[in-house]
Amino acid sequence: MNDTIISPSILSCDFLNIETELKYFEKIPNLWIHLDVMDGHFVPNLTFGHPIIQKISKVTNHLLDAHLMVSNPEFYIKTFSNYNIHNITFHLEATSNAQEALKIIEQMKSSYASVGISIKPGTPVSAISDDIFKRIDLLLVMSVEPGFGGQSFIETTYDKLNQIKDVKKRLNLKFDVQVDGGVTDENAKKLIEHGVSNLVAGSYIFKNSPKKYQSIVEKLRN
Ligand code: DX5
Ligand code: ZN
Repeated sequence: MNDTIISPSILSCDFLNIETELKYFEKIPNLWIHLDVMDGHFVPNLTFGHPIIQKISKVTNHLLDAHLMVSNPEFYIKTFSNYNIHNITFHLEATSNAQEALKIIEQMKSSYASVGISIKPGTPVSAISDDIFKRIDLLLVMSVEPGFGGQSFIETTYDKLNQIKDVKKRLNLKFDVQVDGGVTDENAKKLIEHGVSNLVAGSYIFKNSPKKYQSIVEKLRN
């Protein structure tokens, strides 16, 4: 058992019963609720936005983790700021250069306790500038193409995690490393050994009956 944060992605939950689904996680420590916001533009799929996240913020005792898979992250900085979101992550690929990404990070920092940047499987770690590394609280490494739950984990993610370890050492930084996509009990241990401090899991958790959610979450930490 370790203190890795587990972030259930409600993308795979029963949308007709979100409140009930969230109740099953109430007593589990070190847990964030991962919210996949997709705009049908940055990614082909479309999920949920403001009204649903507002409701969710009222019925969970856990920290909220918004993963913006949108082309215009700036728009959400203000509009999401009243929903008690703890961590907000946007994609580097949604920006045209490091200056723009840094500007968004700075703006987010005034409204959110934690700000993250994410890279898709095809984006190298070297695309993230040192200035960005120095300002983020979290780096989300996508281990599947963003857009859909239930895909298989991409093994080259481990190479990226090694590179990120090197960057953290070189710059003496402590940001969290989150991995999202195809996370199961089969790769969780190896991911943690590669420096991951936060694991997102959707289908691996929600394909089970709710009574098993807690033991499934704990299994990811073993
Ligand atoms: C995919 C999302 C993920 C997704 C993960 O674009 O960012 O959070 O829900 O789902 P699984 O764990 O099923 O791969
Ligand atoms: Zn996600």
